[in-house]
Amino acid sequence: MPPALAETTPLTESRDVTGAFLDRHWTRPLAAQGQTPEQFSPLEASLLPADCGSCHPEQYRDWQTSLHAHAMGPGLMGQLLAMEPTARDEHQDCIRCHAPLAEQADGLLAELATAARSSAGAAPSPAAASLHQQGVVCAACHVRAHQRFGPPRRDGTSPDAAQNAALPHAGFVATGAFEDSRFCSACHQFEPDEYALNGKLLENTTEEWKESRHAREGRNCQSCHMPERRHLWRGIHDPEMVRAAIAFSVESGERANNAIRAALSVRNTGAGHYLPTYVTPRLIAEIEQLDSDGRSLPGTRVERLIQRQVPLDLGSETADTRLPPDGELRLVYERPAHRAAVALAYRLRVEPDEFYARFYRALLADSAAGKGRELIALALKQAESSAFLAFDERRELPQR
Ligand code: HEC
Ligand code: HEC
Ligand code: HEC
Ligand code: HEC
Ligand code: HEC
Repeated sequence: MPPALAETTPLTESRDVTGAFLDRHWTRPLAAQGQTPEQFSPLEASLLPADCGSCHPEQYRDWQTSLHAHAMGPGLMGQLLAMEPTARDEHQDCIRCHAPLAEQADGLLAELATAARSSAGAAPSPAAASLHQQGVVCAACHVRAHQRFGPPRRDGTSPDAAQNAALPHAGFVATGAFEDSRFCSACHQFEPDEYALNGKLLENTTEEWKESRHAREGRNCQSCHMPERRHLWRGIHDPEMVRAAIAFSVESGERANNAIRAALSVRNTGAGHYLPTYVTPRLIAEIEQLDSDGRSLPGTRVERLIQRQVPLDLGSETADTRLPPDGELRLVYERPAHRAAVALAYRLRVEPDEFYARFYRALLADSAAGKGRELIALALKQAESSAFLAFDERRELPQR
């Protein structure tokens, strides 16, 4: 480096070292790892999560249960099967986030070519645990050119060159980038020039977080989604995670003449971004009257959606009733009393995959799924079965 360069870059202008590292780390499409270092054993050279897991068992155990490990599920493969098998660039539109390694792109290409050749056009038999089928693998975040990257050790230290030389896989490069929210932006935040609706990017999680109290108070993505550095990444699909993030409160029903008045409120106390952050989940707050057997009384339900509502073509935004951090929804109930009513039910339903379920139904209905049909049908089942009741409370009504 010519010294003149250092002089023209004032030291006070704190150069964004982390930003520069992340730009390099996440330049997509990712480059192939290339030549394996000579001293590497086959185990050190392997990119398979199970092989990382032989030395990093905790991370492997956690990661297997995470959605990152299932990012190449039937919904993805079903849509990829409908694409041109050799269209590597087109595949990148999806796998740059769902299975970003170059070695995964190769594996996918091979699988799609086989599927295209099979006369039945059936889904290819999943060769047990191919790298590309394992989604966001360890190496997608941690390995470039066979070099490991990670956060500094928990005690703040990092190995020097001599220590690295003595460690498996030649040790690792420690960087604070792994403890920065921007590490996740590569896949959870669109660039400013990417797809937006009603002036808001379709994926805007990091920006939503930046505006929140959580960012000001030093809580980043990792503190909520990787507490104690755990590799679980629980989110909207996890009832515990959702309950812990919401203050749900109810006001008991009152009778006034022949009407019932009550209310509930849902507050986003613990999500570091909009609840939910994407267009794909839907939450439904509802109040209804119950009879003495606890049955819903027809015609008494009132509900409100918490959702960024979009049609399947993503062409417009119908409504945006998501809750920003610390935002609140209050549902006021005023309805004639059913003569059999003895109690009220207050609920919050969560449908993490509402958009996908709607999308798969449409694909199947107009036969647009092509070769991916079987997988899309499976994906629809999964999308429908992820729904759960986050809150379900019952309050007796005063006697007449
Ligand atoms: C043969 C055992 C072995 C295998 C296989 C292995 N590692 Fe490691 N790894 C280690 C050891 C030992 C360290 C050094 C721990 C230390 O000194 O703090 C390490 C360090 C790391 C670190 C740095 C941790 C930190 O504190 O930041 C990361 C990240 C990492 N490995 C990822 C991987 C990934 C990803 C794979 C698979 C592609 C893998 N390792 C395979 C043994 C292994
Ligand atoms: C290489 C791209 C990539 C990176 C980097 C990445 N993610 Fe993800 N993440 C995904 C994909 C793809 C999914 C969806 C997986 C699926 O369900 O198919 C996902 C799912 C999740 C979920 C589960 C959401 C739910 O619906 O319940 C959470 C939480 C999450 N990521 C958090 C993070 C955090 C925090 C980071 C940074 C430490 C991060 N991710 C980094 C691609 C990535
Ligand atoms: C910028 C990163 C990114 C890109 C590019 C991307 N996805 Fe995703 N995808 C995500 C994240 C994050 C999630 C999880 C959040 C959610 O459920 O919306 C997800 C979830 C999904 C899901 C639901 C979960 C599952 O595994 O079934 C499907 C299906 C899906 N994506 C399909 C696609 C397809 C098809 C493409 C390419 C046309 C694509 N995605 C491109 C980031 C991305
Ligand atoms: C989506 C990106 C992502 C994936 C996938 C991922 N990691 Fe990590 N990993 C991280 C981040 C971010 C941290 C730092 C978390 C922090 O400091 O809060 C980390 C930390 C680590 C550490 C240091 C842990 C410690 O306690 O000091 C090891 C070792 C590691 N990862 C190994 C793995 C292995 C093995 C896998 C696969 C089984 C894996 N990682 C998958 C992002 C990822
Ligand atoms: C203060 C804690 C907190 C912080 C900080 C936080 N999250 Fe979340 N996140 C949650 C909770 C709780 C949920 C479940 C409720 C929900 O979906 O909003 C969630 C859900 C998600 C989901 C599921 C999809 C969806 O539509 O909601 C993704 C993806 C996600 N977070 C990514 C991130 C990323 C990336 C960051 C950093 C930019 C981040 N989160 C910061 C707590 C947090």
